Amino acid sequence: MSLVFLNGEWCPIEDAKISVLDRGFIFGDGVYEVIPVYRRRPYREPQHLARLQYSLNGVRIANPYSNEDWSRHIQQIIERHSFEDQAVYIQVTRGVAPRNHPFPEAIAPTVFMMSNPLKRPSSEQVEHGVRAVSMEDQRWLHCDYKTTALLGNVLACQYAVDHQAIEVVQFRNGLLTEASSSNVMIVQDGCILAPQKNHLILHGITMNGVEEVAHRIEVPFEYTDISEEAVRTADEVWLTSSAKEVVAITTLDDKAVGTGKPGAVFKRIYTALQDDIAGYVAS
Ligand code: PDD
Repeated sequence: MSLVFLNGEWCPIEDAKISVLDRGFIFGDGVYEVIPVYRRRPYREPQHLARLQYSLNGVRIANPYSNEDWSRHIQQIIERHSFEDQAVYIQVTRGVAPRNHPFPEAIAPTVFMMSNPLKRPSSEQVEHGVRAVSMEDQRWLHCDYKTTALLGNVLACQYAVDHQAIEVVQFRNGLLTEASSSNVMIVQDGCILAPQKNHLILHGITMNGVEEVAHRIEVPFEYTDISEEAVRTADEVWLTSSAKEVVAITTLDDKAVGTGKPGAVFKRIYTALQDDIAGYVAS
């Protein structure tokens, strides 16, 4: 039995109920976060809470809790689950009101948290890489807000599944954006290139983590416009996310990326990221 947090109360997931008029249900009017937890310690929690605040500001929902309160709730949900590595999910919607597009006045947001086992990449995926397919990015123009209105991402992910791939590599107007639930970056001549951090992509906490460890081990890292051509001729292409950490895309649209195996730069960054996680857990 999994315990979840709903509006300040803890209850078994089967008993957690919300109104059908919740604007999260009716309009997808809410935001969320997924925080990876290693050995019961939330990894990069301050960065996730800062991004939650950014998303809330973006859609104009007041943050229901201070960071101290969020930290306490996150710690409690971790303690209430038996598994060591968890994915803590936080969702805040605008709340419950009769269906009408404008913001209702003075309603309380709906706050929901659950925790599931963290699905880290398999050793097969780390060693051999994964398949991806490309598509035109068909989502809205505020992909920097982590909103629960994920239909565009869901359709993109299903496109990957329908093509025996695990992710999509999306382009908008000829430039790389991101995947359906991960960021995408490439390696060109030993340098890691990630798309500019603008409104067209989620500013991934793992992408920032890769930037940080790249500086630490002195691998050049740059945010820049990345053309479709650059992706198709890159030495390496990677996915990053809180669940995938970093994995190499070794097949894109049925063609080998680089040598068709996870590259040398991937191996260094993968190791540095694992060291960072291990260092954090031990600290
Ligand atoms: N997804 N881009 C999109 C569209 C995402 O949904 C995610 C994360 C990322 C990577 O962000 P981060 O490194 O902060 O996890 C990029 C989460 C895991 C999800 O929706 O389940």
